[in-house]
Amino acid sequence: MAVDINWEELGFSYMNLPYRWRAYWKDGEWYKEGLETENTIQIAEGAPILHYGQGAFEGLKAYRAKDGTIQIFRPDQNAKRLIASAERLLMPEIPVDDFIHAVKEVVKANADYVPPYGTGATLYLRPTLIGVGDNIGVHAASEYIFTIFAMPVGPYFKGGMAPTAFTTSKYDRAAPQGTGAAKVGGNYAGSLKPGEEAKEAGYSDVVYLDPATHTKIEEVGAANFFGIEKETNKFVTPKSPSILPSITKYSLLWLAEHRLGLEVEEGDVYIDDLDRFSEAGACGTAAVISPVGSITHNGNKHVFYSETEVGPVTKRLYDELVGIQYGDVEAPEGWIVKL
Ligand code: PLP
Ligand code: COI
Repeated sequence: MAVDINWEELGFSYMNLPYRWRAYWKDGEWYKEGLETENTIQIAEGAPILHYGQGAFEGLKAYRAKDGTIQIFRPDQNAKRLIASAERLLMPEIPVDDFIHAVKEVVKANADYVPPYGTGATLYLRPTLIGVGDNIGVHAASEYIFTIFAMPVGPYFKGGMAPTAFTTSKYDRAAPQGTGAAKVGGNYAGSLKPGEEAKEAGYSDVVYLDPATHTKIEEVGAANFFGIEKETNKFVTPKSPSILPSITKYSLLWLAEHRLGLEVEEGDVYIDDLDRFSEAGACGTAAVISPVGSITHNGNKHVFYSETEVGPVTKRLYDELVGIQYGDVEAPEGWIVKL
C-alpha cells in the first residue's frame, strides 16, 4: 500500500501510525506482548509515571536503503541505555534481544511509513517504559507498560544540515549526581522553560552548562555537543556524569578516529575557551549532526566556522555517519540490523 505523504516536507512531528508494540509487567514478569492498534494508553490515576516521573524513553531510527531494504542503526545500544535508565529509576529491564525483536516488529508492521531512500526522511521509533498501577506513596510502581511507537520524521533542527544559533541559559537540565545520564522525562520537563525562552529569543536550543560550576559545556537540550579543534582537527566532546551518553556521539568518536584518522578526546570544554574550535556541532538521533553556527553566552556571541556554511570536518563526519545509516557506506561490525 502506498501512503500519501510529502516525505521531503516532514518535520519532527507526531503521526499516528497503524501499529505499536506493547508489553505489560506485573508480579515480576512481562506478559501479553505484541502489536496493538490503539494509540492511547489507559492508566491508573495513581500511576507513578504521572506523579513522580517514573518513566524512561529511547529514540532510534529505521532507514530505507537504496535497494529498498530497511535497516536499523545500533538498536542494541538503545536497549542497553534503556536498561541503564530503568536501573536508575528502579524499573524492570527489557532484555536486549526482546527490545530488538520489538523494534523490528514495529518497523515491519509500519513498513509503508519508512520513507523512501533519498528523501532525507527516516522512521523514528520511540520506545517508552512507564511505571503504572494504583499507587500514592513515593516508591516504585507495582506494574509497568513498555511501548514502542513510530512515525516518519524529517529534520529536528530547522534546516537540518544548516548551521543554527544556540544560547546558554541560567537554568540546568540535570543535577551533578542526578538523572542527567538517564533518558528520563524529568530532564526534559525541566528543559521546557529554558528551551522556550531560547526559541523566543531566536535560538534553536539551549547549550546547557555543567550544573556545579556553570563554566563547562554539557550538552544541547536534545543532543550532545562536539567541537573540532583548530589546527589539529581533534574531535572534542564534553565528558560529564550529568549528560546523556549519546549513541550518535560515541559513533562519531569512533568514526572520527578510525575512519577519518582524527585525534579524539572526551574532556572539559570551557564556555570561555570556544576560540580553540574551528567548527562545532550538535549530534543525536533526531538531530543527526546539526552544525552549531554560534553560541551566545552572557550577551557575547561566538561564531564557529560560519553562520551559513557547514565546516569541512563536520561535513565529512556527516557523510560517513549518514552513509552508514542508509547503507551507502560500509558499517562497522554490528552497527546495522537489517529487517
Ligand atoms: N542528549 C539528549 C538530552 C538527548 O535527548 C538526545 C537524544 O536522544 C541526545 C543527547 C542524543 O542521543 P542519541 O545520539 O543516543 O540519540
Ligand atoms: C532523540 O534524538 O531520539 C531524542 O530523544 C531527542 C529529542 C526528540 C528528545
